[in-house]
Amino acid sequence: MKTFQEYLETVNQAIAAIPYPAAPSKLYEPISYHMALGGKRVRPVLTLMACEAMGGELSHALDAAVGLEMFHNFTLLHDDVMDNADVRRGKTTVHRRWNANTAILSGDTMLTIATQYIARTANWQVMDLFNKTAIEIYEGQQWDMDYEHRIDVTVEEYINMIRLKTSVLLGCALKTGALIVDADEQQADLLYDAGVNMGLAFQLRDDVLDVWGDPATFGKEIGGDIMNNKKTFLLINAIRLAQGDDADELRHWLNDPYATRDNKVAGVTALYERLGVRDLAEDAIAGYNDQAVAAFNQVKMSDEDKQAFIALANKLAGRQF
Ligand code: IPE
Ligand code: IPE
Ligand code: MG
Ligand code: MG
Ligand code: MG
Repeated sequence: MKTFQEYLETVNQAIAAIPYPAAPSKLYEPISYHMALGGKRVRPVLTLMACEAMGGELSHALDAAVGLEMFHNFTLLHDDVMDNADVRRGKTTVHRRWNANTAILSGDTMLTIATQYIARTANWQVMDLFNKTAIEIYEGQQWDMDYEHRIDVTVEEYINMIRLKTSVLLGCALKTGALIVDADEQQADLLYDAGVNMGLAFQLRDDVLDVWGDPATFGKEIGGDIMNNKKTFLLINAIRLAQGDDADELRHWLNDPYATRDNKVAGVTALYERLGVRDLAEDAIAGYNDQAVAAFNQVKMSDEDKQAFIALANKLAGRQF
């Protein structure tokens, strides 16, 4: 197994080699802008790692890896419109630099380019998994928006929502690598399971960083979830735990349409700290990461490969970026 850095370079070279037509420039420029911003490239690296761990040749998984990263970036263009986000990967989001129509149409184009890359695998199982995963992500994104307007979202509903919007794509990335190699179904499913649990820890960490992250490393504006009343694990638990004056204050922040960004983010963050919800999130992250590690440990692969997956899971669960 290669190092993360080596897989990353392979992925970045393949992404840099994607040919975009010159015109219409307002359609393609935002795509190359966004794809060149980098990002962690977690999903394509997982696909390449799974392919090699299952005994396949990296080059056979490269189209699928690029397709999944393109797909992920498409979801980010639309997500930033939906979440009204100004900054991504430390740069201005596409809908702010251009406009919402650009983010919609360039995003649509990215989805189709992604599908073209996936189709090049000429593997029906890979295509099926990709399409199923894409629809699950749209469902998760819809729940995410629906929950902005609800106060009684349960932890169970939240976990199902993040499983859909985020985790299944990590599972899909791993399983795709295995399917390309024609690996045993049981091994492919164990990798999927590991990816889903990794993804739950990954999104919980994302929610924690949205409150306490350093914008310089996280690359996004802090407090976006708080401003949108996103029913994150933190907010759901704060609603559950707040009593008396804390409950009144939280209700105020959730309902005051005139609250300024600075005041609301500082106020809700202080409540989170008083109520100790960050520790609850850290426990949940550790729990899902443990489940991911357990699943990786069950996969039939070399110890070296297991350790590489486990090290990556641990790194992402504890990330600051
Ligand atoms: C952002 O994904 C959206 C979430 C699922 C949290 P990443 O954190 O993988 O974003 P990039 O691709 O590294 O920028
Ligand atoms: C994003 O969740 C999930 C998808 C893009 C499908 P978030 O809305 O939390 O992601 P960020 O924080 O904007 O990256
Ligand atoms: Mg979102
Ligand atoms: Mg968002
Ligand atoms: Mg987020």
